[in-house]
Amino acid sequence: MKGQEWYQQETVVESYEDKRFSRGGGRLTDRLEKEAVGEALAPVEDRKILEIACGTGRFSVMLAQQGADVVGLDISAPMLGEGRRKARQAGVDDHLEFLRGDAARLPFPDDHFDSVFAIRFFHLVDEPERYLSELARVSKDQVVFETYNRFSGRSLYNWALPMGSRLYSRREVDGMLAAADLRLTGETHEFVVPFGLYRKLPGGVAKAFRSVEEAVDRTPLGDSLASISYWSATVE
Ligand SMILES: C[S@@+](CC[C@H](N)C(=O)[O-])C[C@H]1O[C@@H](n2cnc3c(N)ncnc32)[C@H](O)[C@@H]1O
Repeated sequence: MKGQEWYQQETVVESYEDKRFSRGGGRLTDRLEKEAVGEALAPVEDRKILEIACGTGRFSVMLAQQGADVVGLDISAPMLGEGRRKARQAGVDDHLEFLRGDAARLPFPDDHFDSVFAIRFFHLVDEPERYLSELARVSKDQVVFETYNRFSGRSLYNWALPMGSRLYSRREVDGMLAAADLRLTGETHEFVVPFGLYRKLPGGVAKAFRSVEEAVDRTPLGDSLASISYWSATVE
């Protein structure tokens, strides 16, 4: 499994949000990802939601602010520390619990949550079927997850990244869903320009790229060129 040690390092954690989401193109991708997650999980009010690999709580804090009862689980204590700090700052710590744990062995009974989701996680895992089945086990209704796509702009530079990322074909995703007894109910395909590149762009340039991307998205080619897919499924 990639990334378990990486995200334990204080220096990585301290710069995690700042490096990726605080400026220009990074800020834009943060907003777009939050919109995608919000739409996939809506309505969230009074729903019991588990976020797997919640990191610094980008999505958990947003969902608690929208009235959900959220548990954020991550294997990294420093990432969770950052999440707790943000939850206190946002005044939602009474609706949001951060828990240290391994996504491979979730410390919850079957059907414990209404929705379970994982963002920026499946690119790290070696045995996706096993992890997705564990997410499905603890959800009584919905599972939402994101994959990085094999045939996309991401493939052009994935090999050069320090950790690399697992990229998925549509066939692999269908296989994972079947193995976890999940039925696909929705899918969204985003980011023809991979977000790793977006974050290096100044705000104005990123917005211009985004307009071009939206135009490509409206063509039949848009979905097949997207580097990220969001999958929404229901437990059979
Ligand atoms: C790229 S970060 C994504 C964090 C968050 N989902 C986001 O989008 O900002 C990946 C996260 O996965 C966590 N992680 C890696 N392996 C894990 C595991 N086996 N169980 C739970 N969390 C894990 C890391 O600690 C890290 O916080």
